[in-house]
Amino acid sequence: MSEHKDITAQPPSSLDAFSFYNPTKILFGKGMNKQIGKEISMRKHTNVLLVAGGGSIKKNGVYEEVTQSLKENGVEWTELWGVQPNPVLSKVYEGIEIVRKSSPAITAILAVGGGSVIDTCKAIAGGIDHPDIWQCFEGLSALTEKIYPLFVVCTVSATGSEMNMGCVVTNNDKKWNLKHQSLFPVATTIDPQAQYSLPWRTTKDGAIDAIVHCVEGILGAEGFEETTIALAESLILTIIQATNKLQHNPSDYTARANLCWAATLGLNGVAQVALNSGDWATHMLEHALSSMYPELSHGTGLAILLPSYIRWVMKHKVTDSSAPSSSQTPSETVVQRRKPHLAVLRRLSRNVFGIKSGDVLEGVDAMERLFQSWGAPTRFSQLEHESKAYKMMLTCSKGKDDTVCEELNEEEAKVLAKRYFAKKYQGSNGKLEENDVVDWVRLASK
Ligand code: NZQ
Ligand code: ZN
Repeated sequence: MSEHKDITAQPPSSLDAFSFYNPTKILFGKGMNKQIGKEISMRKHTNVLLVAGGGSIKKNGVYEEVTQSLKENGVEWTELWGVQPNPVLSKVYEGIEIVRKSSPAITAILAVGGGSVIDTCKAIAGGIDHPDIWQCFEGLSALTEKIYPLFVVCTVSATGSEMNMGCVVTNNDKKWNLKHQSLFPVATTIDPQAQYSLPWRTTKDGAIDAIVHCVEGILGAEGFEETTIALAESLILTIIQATNKLQHNPSDYTARANLCWAATLGLNGVAQVALNSGDWATHMLEHALSSMYPELSHGTGLAILLPSYIRWVMKHKVTDSSAPSSSQTPSETVVQRRKPHLAVLRRLSRNVFGIKSGDVLEGVDAMERLFQSWGAPTRFSQLEHESKAYKMMLTCSKGKDDTVCEELNEEEAKVLAKRYFAKKYQGSNGKLEENDVVDWVRLASK
């Protein structure tokens, strides 16, 4: 009886009630890309829009495999090429127009590529029956009932887009996301062998992205959510081990498969269950950053912004103490609401980065060393070479021709902060002030 009383006396927690939904069917493993035609035809689609990037799928055999599978299953297709990393709205409109004018009618979308291609396809799928899909990104309009079914052949494991309901698209100075339950892909194939051809820089960018998804999720934890926190930590450990192996052997199937699956789980929702929506400040600032500098890959921006964000949080005296005192500045009040960060960050330092004392800053140092060992810059001052090299790699970049992201000066940091706030991001842990963001960027500079 007394035991029963103790249980009911527990304080309210994020575990008291939560929902989880994910309808995407995954076909994972060797040769699975050949199954895509069957997945499409068994749902009675005979004509699809096949969307791809700059041509990697022609070089690594994926295009051949996929189109063969479509032919064998009686599926016709129209092709749309040229989705660029950090994808842009104009390509979405192009896809929408093709589908609207199609005869016989295209009834489904097929993404063959990484996060940029998949996200473009989600926006196309939602935009065909909508007067202007960008209005949905702006929050000015809702998606209509009719969202075209999306099928995916995933060739980069990083974003989790292959199994989630979000997409991120750039419209000039806005790199914004849209989420909707109807944007989950119907079915996705992931053959890790198709990712042997990824350049190292993209493999490591993907690994960093997936790690940051796990970290930002658990930054929303209250501390009760053992299952989700432990899952996120295990995913991070798996990603680190697998990526270390791939650095030496990009064709190590077991390592590649573990990275692929861990990255998918990193943002398909399971690693965020009951975490009060997480704390996505780092992602939101990275999106603002890559809207200013499209030549920066998402993973590169994150490698700079996550360590500095944690340092910023720690610098502002995160403590275990309870109510904020009246003498606190607005920044400190924000941080006070982030109180659970400290316990989670200590755990992360200990369990993932091997810092026995649980010292958070030592943990961040270790994270930074890890990213650097993969060749990722972790400060703006290290960026010039990286962003130039990335820009050269892009075959269809429409980024600013002569601007390359380097150490950000005060003015640029303010522009960045403005872009961050334009999206009106309300994290569960409170909104940052403009000065906070500028201060954070300062920590990321040198
Ligand atoms: O364009 P191609 O020629 O295909 O080359 C691509 C591209 O240059 C290349 N590539 C893809 N598969 C390959 C390959 N090269 C060799 N072998 C293969 N198998 O890789 C380059 C990068 O591709 P991209 O799709 O841009 O990478 P990623 O999957 O990292 O996607 C990044 C985008 O997703 C967004 C990011 O902001 C960024 O715009 N995100 C989407 C999310 C979501 N929908 O849930 C969440 C993420 O946090 C993220 O924001
Ligand atoms: Zn990401």
